[in-house]
Amino acid sequence: MAKKPWGGRFQGGTEQEVEAFTSSLDFDQRLFPQDIAGSQAHARMLARQGIIAPEEAEAIVRGLEEIRGEMEAGEFSWDPALEDVHMAVESRLIAKIGEVGRKLHTARSRNDQVALDVRLFLAGEIEGLLGDLTDLRRAGARLARRHLGVLMPGYTHLQRAQPILFSHHLLAHDEMWRRDQARLTESLARIRVSPLGAAALAGTTFPIDPQFSASQLGFPEVFRNSLDAVSDRDFLLEFLAHSSIMMVHLSRLAEELIIWSSSEFAFVDLPDAYATGSSIMPQKKNPDVPELVRGKCGRVCGHLLGLLMTVKGLPLAYNRDLQEDKEPLFDTLDTVKAAVRLMTGLLGNLKIRPERMAAALHGGFLTATDMADYLVTKGVPFRTAHEQVGQTVQYAETQKKELWELTLEEIRRFAPQADADLFEWLKIENSVARRTSPGGTAPARVAAALARVEEELSL
Ligand code: ARG
Repeated sequence: MAKKPWGGRFQGGTEQEVEAFTSSLDFDQRLFPQDIAGSQAHARMLARQGIIAPEEAEAIVRGLEEIRGEMEAGEFSWDPALEDVHMAVESRLIAKIGEVGRKLHTARSRNDQVALDVRLFLAGEIEGLLGDLTDLRRAGARLARRHLGVLMPGYTHLQRAQPILFSHHLLAHDEMWRRDQARLTESLARIRVSPLGAAALAGTTFPIDPQFSASQLGFPEVFRNSLDAVSDRDFLLEFLAHSSIMMVHLSRLAEELIIWSSSEFAFVDLPDAYATGSSIMPQKKNPDVPELVRGKCGRVCGHLLGLLMTVKGLPLAYNRDLQEDKEPLFDTLDTVKAAVRLMTGLLGNLKIRPERMAAALHGGFLTATDMADYLVTKGVPFRTAHEQVGQTVQYAETQKKELWELTLEEIRRFAPQADADLFEWLKIENSVARRTSPGGTAPARVAAALARVEEELSL
């Protein structure tokens, strides 16, 4: 059994169950690139400040580089007795370069070390995720461009409400993704703050230069309070919150795709490569990908709640409870990345059925609001117009007719101010074309909105 780096004051070994219970090695292995980079920056800082000799720092940096190679090649043997990635790296270093390796942990604790590793890791991952979100937005914008001009019913309460452009609907999702990107980007400023130099909790007696190690790692800022530096996990909570919102956004789109691909709607055909069959019903093509995106939203939101509960009762500063921050973080990242990529693929290969969308524009009196607006232009107060149109709709329903199939005389029974030009207002295309208000669904507005998004995405 390996000797514990902290074994000085202990007699005998650790109970095996305790070792298994306290170890984070299984999952924090994933942080080895960050752990090594952080240690190299720390060693260089120690040498620069005259705390260790320059040759010593060089030996440490080189030794760590070799360990990185072993880990990348999968040749590293992870000893479960070594608790976590930090101790695994350090004991390997000592085994490789001898006594000098024992100097690396000067003026440092695993408490500031682990906080640094997670921050470095998350900052890198967020950059990747921002790129993935850009790909998703591009897939959405391309779909909007391909089908610019296609009409569909817009819904409220999942009841047909007013005609809109399909592209307008897609661009609504783009707004959500744009905010998701903005939230992640803003959070980077709070993640890129180096806690290195806080040591265990109170700072250190050595003349360290935290700014130097931070800048080695590309972090523009340094912690201001050593207690906070080792116990703060706000940046993770924020990320889990942002991820939950992202998943909620994807889940809402997933839900729409599920509904739209049902035979009741049949607005879209899911690509075969993104659907699955049934083991018993040969005819079925199931929307499992959007269903699982919707389903996995639950676990990501759960991770946010879980970590909030982990952190809520912790006295300052570091507590071992904080080790529980990693699995929710890793699982959230893996889940969100997969969900974003799969939705990108789905949108990129989605088949739209404009004829089905057009068919759904009939039968729901979707231009009733337009008739009310028309009456307003004839001097009728809106509330009165609303009432008159309501009565007209009720009458049309009894006649099993669309509003535009009524005669002017019939309409005038309820709306005496109506003239023949009303019929222009009742046409679906005109209803969309008239909604020229800012952010509205008129083709010119949507075309401009799409052009703006394409510019943002360099499309
Ligand atoms: N594995 C620990 C974690 O993830 C590293 C820090 C442990 N620090 C300590 N004093 N036991 O939080």
